[in-house]
Amino acid sequence: MTTERVMLNDGWTCFQGANADDAAAYTATADLISILNTVDAPIVVARRDSVIVFFNKAAADVLGLSPSDIGRPFCDVSVLAGLPRLEERCSQVAASGVDSRADFRERDRWFVVRISPYTNGDRQVTGTVLTFTNVTAFRGSIDQAIYERECTKAILNTVGDPLVVLSADQRIQSGNRAFYSMFGVSRDETQGVPLYDLGGGAFELALLRTQLEEMLAGSHAFQPVEADLVLPGKGPRTLVLDARPLSFPGHSERRVLVTFQDITARKQAEAAKDLRSEAELRRSEAFLAEGQRLSVTGSFCWKVATDEITWSEQLYRIYEFEIGVPVTLERIRTRVHPGDLSVLEKMKMVGQARGGGHDFEWQYRLIMPDHSIKYLHAVAHAIRDRDGQLEYIAAVQDVTARRMSEEALAEARSELAKVARVTSLGVLTASIAHEVNQPLSGIITNASTCLRMLDADPPNVDGARETARRTIRDGNRASDVITRLRALFSKKEFTFELLDLNEVTREVIALSLSDLQRNRVALQLELAEDLPTIIGDRIQLQQVILNLLRNASDAMVDVHDRPRQLLVRTEREDGDRVRVSVRDAGVGVDPRSMNKLFDAFYTTKSDGMGIGLSVSRSIIEGHQGRLWAESNDGPGATFSFSIPSGPESVTNAAPR
Ligand SMILES: Nc1ncnc2c1ncn2[C@@H]1O[C@H](COP(=O)(O)OP(=O)(O)OP(=O)(O)O)[C@@H](O)[C@H]1O
Ligand SMILES: [Mg+2]
Repeated sequence: MTTERVMLNDGWTCFQGANADDAAAYTATADLISILNTVDAPIVVARRDSVIVFFNKAAADVLGLSPSDIGRPFCDVSVLAGLPRLEERCSQVAASGVDSRADFRERDRWFVVRISPYTNGDRQVTGTVLTFTNVTAFRGSIDQAIYERECTKAILNTVGDPLVVLSADQRIQSGNRAFYSMFGVSRDETQGVPLYDLGGGAFELALLRTQLEEMLAGSHAFQPVEADLVLPGKGPRTLVLDARPLSFPGHSERRVLVTFQDITARKQAEAAKDLRSEAELRRSEAFLAEGQRLSVTGSFCWKVATDEITWSEQLYRIYEFEIGVPVTLERIRTRVHPGDLSVLEKMKMVGQARGGGHDFEWQYRLIMPDHSIKYLHAVAHAIRDRDGQLEYIAAVQDVTARRMSEEALAEARSELAKVARVTSLGVLTASIAHEVNQPLSGIITNASTCLRMLDADPPNVDGARETARRTIRDGNRASDVITRLRALFSKKEFTFELLDLNEVTREVIALSLSDLQRNRVALQLELAEDLPTIIGDRIQLQQVILNLLRNASDAMVDVHDRPRQLLVRTEREDGDRVRVSVRDAGVGVDPRSMNKLFDAFYTTKSDGMGIGLSVSRSIIEGHQGRLWAESNDGPGATFSFSIPSGPESVTNAAPR
């Protein structure tokens, strides 16, 4: 048997035959080789003993086989020696008759080598056929995909927030490192497990399931869902779960990317803040309640449209309603003094009629069940609520105690004024006695004269009539003095009337005259002729003038080196006011004590009470006037008061 290496149409083979002229076989082989040479993939045929008997043109081109490789075993051909266990594999294929595959790298190329049994015409496996498929490009794209997958994995693993990919039926596919670490699970344990089994079933929430399904169906976007659970080694946690649909080109199945955000710390901080602000709120409410209790001030809110009323505890106490009982306008009406009910209606009317509220301040009374009266002072502020409806926010203060003490103070003041008056008059006893004595001695003289005239013969009837008239005149004078004194002594309530201040001044001076004379005071009167009338209380104003005259006289007691001059002046002031001033040449007033003079019980006199000026000032203020003191340019001081002038005629006078 001869073996010959022949080249047939660029393919090389080892032709074996009994003789070279076996033409038919040669032709068939040549045809086959010619076909194989058209195939792009390298093909190598070997005997069972791994000796190469054929390779096609592609094998020569791609693998670099040369005709000298025919008849050599694989291990002697350098390009094939790189294929691990090639001879062993080929033997197995030849023995089993079953194909085998192997990856083969040749420099920078990758091949998949398919090893198939080679069967001869007698169906005997006489060798193997190696077909090389170049998969370099395919392998490159796989490598790229693997590389990208690894990169993505690395990136996902560096993301702090846990991420997991779910299948469309919401089973876990894969997660990042943070995911497995958070739930304390491994990849294998969770692969294919429903999301709802995670975290001890914490995600078994209807809202979550519906949302995921709707999102996958494309009908709704996913809204984050909060879940509370206990995480192994971490304790109770609150997670916010968010989800996005994932779709892959060329794949119909949609997946879901789920992220978990641990908001426990934030929740705890918020809860702590809530607790803090709740505690602060409670504290400030307690402060407010205590403040309301101490100041006896309650507050309320009244929605005018619905008559919805909210009261503070203190207001319940003021109204003496049981705390917490719903407050209605009807209930309030049962307490409000009938004379003050209109205030409530007015508030409502103003608010509704003008379509806008106005702030209010008013005083009103309550009649309590024991018939006692409470005086309240309220301030209401109108606001609009969120719907634009009118609402009053009000503070209500119980001013009963203040009111009572004001009344008591007024009472005490009037008592004090009376004491001051009586004291002043006590000092004037001598003067008063003189005032009364004068008309009395006139009466006696006139009566004697009258008797004498009647006893004459013939009786002097005309003269007697005249003296009787004088008797009556003097009697009236005495009676006037007594009336004036009685008025000054009696405790009369304020009686406002139209007064001529000149006349008032003259009457007081008449009472004080002899006292002034006794003290060697030179009185000068400057009474304005065009003085407008005023409205006031005669007795009180006389008391003021009397005080000023007495003080002036007292201030000049120790003056021996100059005339004890006293000037009483009335005048019209700008702005329709009337002024009365009493100017003396006494010791004067130290500027430092100028402010103290009007304080009650401030006196520099051994027998003084120090109430004259304080009572006088409150009287003048009661007449809307003012009383003040000034030092003179020369010696002494001037005390003046001014009060508004009243209407010109009595008929127009209106009591104030
Ligand atoms: N014209 C004046 N000149 C100087 N000091 C005066 C004059 N008027 C009042 N004062 C001072 O003002 C003080 C207070 O006067 P006020 O009339 O209030 O009380 P009082 O005269 O001392 O006592 P009383 O209660 O009896 O009037 C006087 O003690 C005196 O020091
Ligand atoms: Mg005095």
